[in-house]
Amino acid sequence: MLLKKILLTGPTGFIGKRLLYKLDEMGYWVRCLVRRGETLNLKIPLTREPEIVYADLLDPDSLSAVLDGMDAAYYLVHSMGGRSIRQTLAFAEKDRRAAENFRQAADRAGLARIIYLGGLGDAGDRLSHHLASRHEVARILQSGTVKTTVLRAAVIIGAGGASFEIVRYLVERLPLLLCPKWVYTESQPISIDNVLAYLSGCMEAPETAGRSFDIGGHQIVSYADLMRMYARVRGLKRSIIGVPLVPIRFSAYWVNLITPVPAGVVLPLAEGLRNKAICRENTIRKLIPISLTSMETAICNALAEEAEGPGKLLSQQACFLPEDLT
Ligand SMILES: NC(=O)c1ccc[n+]([C@@H]2O[C@H](COP(=O)([O-])OP(=O)(O)OC[C@H]3O[C@@H](n4cnc5c(N)ncnc54)[C@H](OP(=O)(O)O)[C@@H]3O)[C@@H](O)[C@H]2O)c1
Repeated sequence: MLLKKILLTGPTGFIGKRLLYKLDEMGYWVRCLVRRGETLNLKIPLTREPEIVYADLLDPDSLSAVLDGMDAAYYLVHSMGGRSIRQTLAFAEKDRRAAENFRQAADRAGLARIIYLGGLGDAGDRLSHHLASRHEVARILQSGTVKTTVLRAAVIIGAGGASFEIVRYLVERLPLLLCPKWVYTESQPISIDNVLAYLSGCMEAPETAGRSFDIGGHQIVSYADLMRMYARVRGLKRSIIGVPLVPIRFSAYWVNLITPVPAGVVLPLAEGLRNKAICRENTIRKLIPISLTSMETAICNALAEEAEGPGKLLSQQACFLPEDLT
């Protein structure tokens, strides 16, 4: 069955905003779920004007009709955020409630499919709060009657992505980077264009329904490697020195001072650095064969986009205000 009408959650976010354009290009009819009207501020017009519905996933009553008439939905939402480190631990409870509310609404509406983008990282690996919460959301969505596809990704390289912006600001601003040992944990980043190809490809591949896939680029690198790559691509001389015994909270405060990424996003992400984020399997490559972008190219693409206006991310919770980096 060709699914045509899609509900997109998170259309103001880093990934949702880009997926909206991709789905429009592919001829889908999209209904966007937003919390605030003014935030879906599209600079380039779409072929078809998307329908906008106002709802908050934390308010089950607001979800009563948003899925009516829809075939499928993308779940691209998280609740990390806030300007204070103290607010940060509330996100897991909010994400649990949001996923439960959405699963119930999707079951009631009889959706054919949900596609969710979560995080890589293995349960046996003393998971951080952030990754444990991403996995919990996957389990909640999969426990309903709707066939749910889960894609699991590590850092996504693209302008406005939280992890990429942290790397970008740190390397741009600091000639000497004194880093905690977690920056040597291995991960398998992926470019935003590859993520969009997998997200949209799953909608067109019925065999991906109800299954979970790891997605990653070709290269397995540490965050320190990623910072070195960024410096190389930008032609910057940078020294990265590992410093043992730096508490996560301290490094999160420090990253928060240097970058515009809110503390409520930095702490859970920094805590997640201790977990390896590498694909356990590559089935998706057979089902959706795409050519994988190298990290260097992904960084160049992100920088080209930044030149147009750095990470014009309109999400309220992760807004990286354009700032002069000089
Ligand atoms: N960025 C990465 O590197 C990365 C890596 C791996 C996986 N992922 C996954 O990709 C997904 C999307 O992430 P992202 O980077 O695009 O995040 P983002 O830019 O911070 O966007 C989050 C979106 O969620 C919306 N939202 C939050 N709470 C909501 C609620 N209660 N009701 C309705 N909407 C709500 C936000 O709307 P407002 O504009 O109203 O705040 C925003 O549109 C997440 O599941 C994340 O775990 C991201």
